[in-house]
Amino acid sequence: MLTEFLPDISDAELEQFMQIMLTQHGYDFRGYAPASLKRRLGLVIKKYGFTSLIPLNQRLLTQPEYLRYFINEITVSTTELFRDPAAWVALRVQALPPFFALPEIRIWHVGASTGEEVISMAILLQEIGLYSRARIFATDIDDISIEKAKSAQYPARSRNLYKQNFQAVFPTSSFEKYAHEEGGHLVFDPSLLKNTRFLKHNIVTEAAFGEFEVILCRNLLIYFTPPLQDQVVTKLVDSLVPGGILMIGTKESLFWCSAAKRLIAVNDSERIYRKQK
Ligand SMILES: C[S@@+](CC[C@H](N)C(=O)[O-])C[C@H]1O[C@@H](n2cnc3c(N)ncnc32)[C@H](O)[C@@H]1O
Repeated sequence: MLTEFLPDISDAELEQFMQIMLTQHGYDFRGYAPASLKRRLGLVIKKYGFTSLIPLNQRLLTQPEYLRYFINEITVSTTELFRDPAAWVALRVQALPPFFALPEIRIWHVGASTGEEVISMAILLQEIGLYSRARIFATDIDDISIEKAKSAQYPARSRNLYKQNFQAVFPTSSFEKYAHEEGGHLVFDPSLLKNTRFLKHNIVTEAAFGEFEVILCRNLLIYFTPPLQDQVVTKLVDSLVPGGILMIGTKESLFWCSAAKRLIAVNDSERIYRKQK
């Protein structure tokens, strides 16, 4: 297995690397869980045939255009359409109904990756008649993923899983209403993104913007240390309107987060919470 032969990175080397990333490139990885960061760095070192972090640093300094590829490789972009379908059912049935009466619903996808989560939300809103009132922001630290997200196209091999997840959320609706296959791609209807703005934004180092009825930050906290999870969740809860919804990944927890006391569980097992009024 590839991972068995990954180069060993010491804590001191990692520390030095994170300092360089911060001071030279403005990326703060200090609160990322060290084990997963070391593994990702090991994969990059191996893939490009570097001998250690030193030549990698050198390349980042001498070839600035490499930085965006590096950010794409160091982050984990795994995602899928209607990932964890039961959570989407809970969102639709238990969390969204109070917003039916609003003239506008603002939604923020933090760590949107290649956009499947954004398309899932657009389809969900379309199915329940809320899409025309939605204003959606989708942000990520990785601009290569953002570019892919804007295209709303995925490899055709994703089709079976995506359709299966869709049908688990909407058993009587048609997947083909939203997507078709073309030239080896699964192509989603571009109108699903017409109310969405994609932005490069770092949830760790940048301020939040605006107030939102719904924030999804799924499968990102898991890469952070507990103090950083606490800091990020505080930022997100501050950005919710009273009564607003926070949805995190089903394998994540608010255990370390002081802001959890400002939230009420809508569905704890699906990790959906409402900010107290
Ligand atoms: C595993 S994906 C999760 C995608 C999607 N939310 C889901 O649950 O399927 C995590 C995403 O978070 C992004 N990310 C990592 N650090 C970030 C940061 N500091 N600010 C914003 N996004 C970040 C990564 O680039 C990646 O696209």
